Amino acid sequence: MQRGRRDDRGAPVSTLWHGRFEGGPAADLLAFTVSLDYDRRLAADDLAGSRAHVRGLGRAGLLTDDEVGVVLAALDRVEDELRSGSFTFEPTDEDIHTAIERRVTALAGPAGAKLHTGRSRNDQVATDLRLWTKRELTEVARRVVALQRTLLDRAGEVGPAYLPGYTHLQRAQPVALAHHLLAHGWALARDVDRLVDCRRRLDVSPLGAGALAGSSLPLDPDATADDLGFAGRFENSLDAVSDRDFVAEALFALSLLAVHLSRMGEEIILWSTDEFGFARLDDAYATGSSMLPQKKNPDIAELARGKAGRVIGDLTGVLATLKGLPLSYNRDLQEDKEPLFDAVDQVSLALTAMSGLYGSLTFDVERMQQAADSPYAAAIDLAELLVEQGTPFRDAHALVGALVRDSLERHVPLAELVEAHPDLGAAGAALLEPGHPVTRRTTPGGAGPTPLVAQLDRFTRRLDADAERIG
Ligand code: ARG
Repeated sequence: MQRGRRDDRGAPVSTLWHGRFEGGPAADLLAFTVSLDYDRRLAADDLAGSRAHVRGLGRAGLLTDDEVGVVLAALDRVEDELRSGSFTFEPTDEDIHTAIERRVTALAGPAGAKLHTGRSRNDQVATDLRLWTKRELTEVARRVVALQRTLLDRAGEVGPAYLPGYTHLQRAQPVALAHHLLAHGWALARDVDRLVDCRRRLDVSPLGAGALAGSSLPLDPDATADDLGFAGRFENSLDAVSDRDFVAEALFALSLLAVHLSRMGEEIILWSTDEFGFARLDDAYATGSSMLPQKKNPDIAELARGKAGRVIGDLTGVLATLKGLPLSYNRDLQEDKEPLFDAVDQVSLALTAMSGLYGSLTFDVERMQQAADSPYAAAIDLAELLVEQGTPFRDAHALVGALVRDSLERHVPLAELVEAHPDLGAAGAALLEPGHPVTRRTTPGGAGPTPLVAQLDRFTRRLDADAERIG
């Protein structure tokens, strides 16, 4: 067991709660409870929250105009010190909130000691983290749009190129390459939607909830919410200090986004193999091997895939932290920050790297088209030709299936068998011409060049609208 820490003069070291305590905190306690290493990322938001709170105290008559001025000046000074690196942290600075308040009090004297009037670190940290998350989700959403624009640019560039579309990773039907690229683009559009939606729901100020119950002092949480640019204030003080739904929601939105990036990465890994050969990595976005001179590796795509696991871990960690907590604030909630920061960092890096990777990829269109040009890929077109002539689809399916089996078993080209068939003939054989099947996907949202024109237009308009919505 350790005795409480004392300063040079033998007095217990000072804490925010020293009045109630005879002894100071044990070094073990400080080492275990400190969060400064990571929550210093909230400094700018903590300063913003404190400024709004001080102005609120002024409006409430709890600080004179002079005192408000003195404390605001001290907050400015702290901001400068933090920015220039001259701010000195003390061993007793548990977190960024403690550090800033300590310094403001040192700078502003008795007026500084009024900063925390009517406020608790419980509503303070919830306020800071909401401000932080609101801004960072905006930034992540912007990066998603940048990746979507890369996909759109590439889709515009590749024109009528097509490749095999797959189900079960077996060649199924030819699809336009632009259509394939936009499939990822639309998944990302849902991510943008989720991020913006999450941002809307978290746009609630907890400031004024105090430790858990509000205050006897004439504070106005609506006004501070307004001052901080929140859409509104909390409805219930207990909920305000214990709610971390926004952290869990943000982490889910980031996790699903990470899953999408992982799937895109997996595809590039496949496409850049000798076996597929659909794409070549640019030197700037590939790595080599320390041993094997010939290697060119898709490390960005692999890390995009790998990071998804880590981000999912961030989400499940926070959910596990939240699940057993009684109302209202519990120190467990301090564990919300590292996973959130980590997920935002990792997804942000992945988005930018994947934009670069996609933007610099060389598509081997010839190879893609060759792979898609198997006559068997047009089997559905043969069946649909029969359907147009009145054959029930199930019968048409069986008939074409039998032709395919015959062709494979006897090594006779499918075109020959089709040509010879009384119901298919030359019209049927024409459907097997390379490049033809993809043009027959004409329904809205389909994989052929005709609906693609409309899709490109709709995607472009959606992107512009989303960019506006993100702000
Ligand atoms: N560092 C703490 C956190 O992140 C701040 C709140 C501390 N509140 C308390 N009652 N000890 O949650």
